[in-house]
Amino acid sequence: MHIPVLAREVLQGLDLKPGETVIDGTLGAGGHAALMLEATGPNGKLVGFDRDGRNIEISKKNLERFGERLSAINDSFAAMETYGLSADAILLDLGFSSMHVDEAQRGFSFMYEGPLDMRYDLRGDITAADIVNSWSRDDLATLFRRYGEDPNAQVIAKAITEARKEKRFVTTLDLADVVAAVVPRRGKLHPATFVFQALRIAVNDELGELEKGLQAAEKVLKAGGRIAIITFHSLEDRIVKQFFKESSVLETVTKKPIVPGQTEVLDNPRSRSAKLRIAKKK
Ligand SMILES: C[S@@+](CC[C@H](N)C(=O)[O-])C[C@H]1O[C@@H](n2cnc3c(N)ncnc32)[C@H](O)[C@@H]1O
Repeated sequence: MHIPVLAREVLQGLDLKPGETVIDGTLGAGGHAALMLEATGPNGKLVGFDRDGRNIEISKKNLERFGERLSAINDSFAAMETYGLSADAILLDLGFSSMHVDEAQRGFSFMYEGPLDMRYDLRGDITAADIVNSWSRDDLATLFRRYGEDPNAQVIAKAITEARKEKRFVTTLDLADVVAAVVPRRGKLHPATFVFQALRIAVNDELGELEKGLQAAEKVLKAGGRIAIITFHSLEDRIVKQFFKESSVLETVTKKPIVPGQTEVLDNPRSRSAKLRIAKKK
């Protein structure tokens, strides 16, 4: 089950009141959404988005008790402006959910064998296998360097283009094994960690979606409303920090990002790289 990250800090930061309307741009399993629905009870509304139809179904089930107060939409948060919404608070909790990594079939994990897929939205047409099997060595190296910040980007790109001459990449382990053969293991991190991160970002255009989502959120938020964003790597955090800083209508509430304490990291290792930034609309 997915444990909501920085839950107390999100609730405090969004300062929700009964009757308010909240947008949860990343419903996932509905963990944060349940807490926000409780905070806005008895009649506040929550409109939730998720690109993944499976997670829409999971969150609807987990949030059944809130009845009509929840609307769940299978779309990207980048499209929120097209639904005629106006919100007192917005949350984006970026990236993948535990369900994605735990389900081998989705292709997000280098630990379990599954198709090399990594799409959040199964209606999308590019998979991780498409990228790995068709991009040039230079483009792969740039991808791993830019989105994975991987110091071994060149070596890995070369190994991939050599290996695929023999056999196309089909599964997650095909790729994890080729990377592990050329990159020495450092500490606890699997050698393919950054390659998988880079591919996931590219397959789902995560940075482009974030830019569009921030622009949409800024418009959809009411005056005095708050927005909270949880990021899991520096590329995303930089975009959020810069966007808040340059916006003429948002005021940054968190001078420094809020990070989880030791207890949370021990209880939920996925939270270890989380950073929360909050802004308020003037
Ligand atoms: C970290 S999980 C959210 C977990 C949720 N806060 C909870 O407590 O259960 C992120 C979710 O966002 C979804 N997602 C990723 N990018 C998205 C986007 N651009 N628009 C909508 N959903 C997205 C993923 O499918 C995933 O379910």
